[in-house]
This record gives sequence, structure tokens and C-alpha cells, in this order.
Amino acid sequence: MDWTAYYDAQAGRAVRSVLLATLRLRGDAEAGVALDMGSGDGVETRHLLSLGWRVHSYDADPVARERLTTGLDPGALSRLSFSSAQFEELTGLPEADFVYAGFSLPFCAPSAFPGLWDAIRSAVKPGGLFAGELFGPHDSWGSRTDMNFHDREQVAGLLAGLGVLSLVEEDREGQSAFGPRHWHVFHVIARNPPAPAWPGAHPEQPPKAEVLSV
Ligand SMILES: C[S@@+](CC[C@H](N)C(=O)[O-])C[C@H]1O[C@@H](n2cnc3c(N)ncnc32)[C@H](O)[C@@H]1O
Repeated sequence: MDWTAYYDAQAGRAVRSVLLATLRLRGDAEAGVALDMGSGDGVETRHLLSLGWRVHSYDADPVARERLTTGLDPGALSRLSFSSAQFEELTGLPEADFVYAGFSLPFCAPSAFPGLWDAIRSAVKPGGLFAGELFGPHDSWGSRTDMNFHDREQVAGLLAGLGVLSLVEEDREGQSAFGPRHWHVFHVIARNPPAPAWPGAHPEQPPKAEVLSV
């Protein structure tokens, strides 16, 4: 993929609505640690930095680091780390309050996707959020063997155990930076449930006195 042409074609674009919706869901919660997987031109990373988040961004494209960091003030730079890493080579991810992956995970090689997804699931702290896109098999690129695609049932499987706050499927003709195409995309916002205090305890309900006295 010619990602430079993609970034240029999208120059001046707005912050992705899935990321904005996720931040709205957090209400007044304090900014924490975020991962931006496939940060691309850096619009979402810069937005998170502007809100006080500490951000670890990942993108394999050689120009991504420069596009991301150009013009950032020292305060924002001090809260940013960037890894010029291929998804396929990641061995683990830092813990995060929010993992964002906008239109990037489908570009991971299918054989490496399960490991990448496991790393993402493990990175989201209890109570933390995941948001981003997965592509479905009807997508224009659905026959590509170097990308991964998931139908609705498989998406549900990937999200099992998470609280799904929003799952929007688009299966329609549309446009992209590279021209007309068929979009089959799942826009996901999901929350890792808070860990129960001990087995059997419901996270939202205070334990009963007799349990406490054991
Ligand atoms: C469609 S762009 C999305 C960029 C940005 N998140 C956005 O929403 O516009 C996909 C990004 O993922 C990165 N990418 C693609 N395949 C990758 C891989 N295997 N490992 C790491 N990054 C990858 C590309 O360099 C590109 O910046």
C-alpha cells in the first residue's frame, strides 16, 4: 500500500468519529494511557495528546513517525512514544486504559492476527476500552490473502468477554482515498469488564458482609 498517498489524500481530515464517541463514553474520567495501533498520519494520537493522554503509537510505515511528531510541542512529545513496528512482530503491548485501532488491524497478516488480537485484549486494563475497525469478507479487498477479514459471527467471537458498547456494521458501496469501493466494516467500541474483587463477586455490587468476614 502507498500509505504516503493515503495520508496526503486524507490531509486535514477530522478525528475519527469512533474515537470521539469512545472518549464521550468515558465522560469526565481522567486521561490515561492509550495505544494507537496503526497511527498513520497521527490525527488520533495528536488528539489524545492534546487531551493529556500518554500515548504509545505503532505504525510500520517509514514516514509515520515524522508525520506524527512534526509540530508537536515538547509537553505532548514527552507523553508520546512511537514504535516503528510491524504488527506481525509485536511480542506484547503495554497496559492501557484505551486501545484504539482505526482502519489498521485488517492489514495484519492473517497468520499473525490471532497473536496481535491476544496482545490487544491483554493490554486493555480492567475497565478499559477498545475501539476501532475490523473488515468483513464482502469488502472490496476481501479476496486479499495478505489481510484479515471477519464476518459478524467471527467479530462476535473476537469480542466475547468484553462489554460491547457499540457495534456498527457497514456493508455498502462507497468511496475511499483511492476511489470507489465496497466497504464491509465493523466499527467497534468495547469495554473490558472491571476485574471482580474475587471469584464470584459482581464488580458493580459491593460484597456482602459475610463474605468480607471470611
Ligand atoms: C488505513 S491506515 C489507517 C491510519 C489511521 N489509523 C487512520 O484512521 O487513518 C492503516 C495504517 O496501518 C499501518 N499498517 C498497515 N499494516 C501494518 C502492519 N502490518 N504493521 C503495522 N502497521 C501497519 C499503515 O502504515 C497505515 O498507517
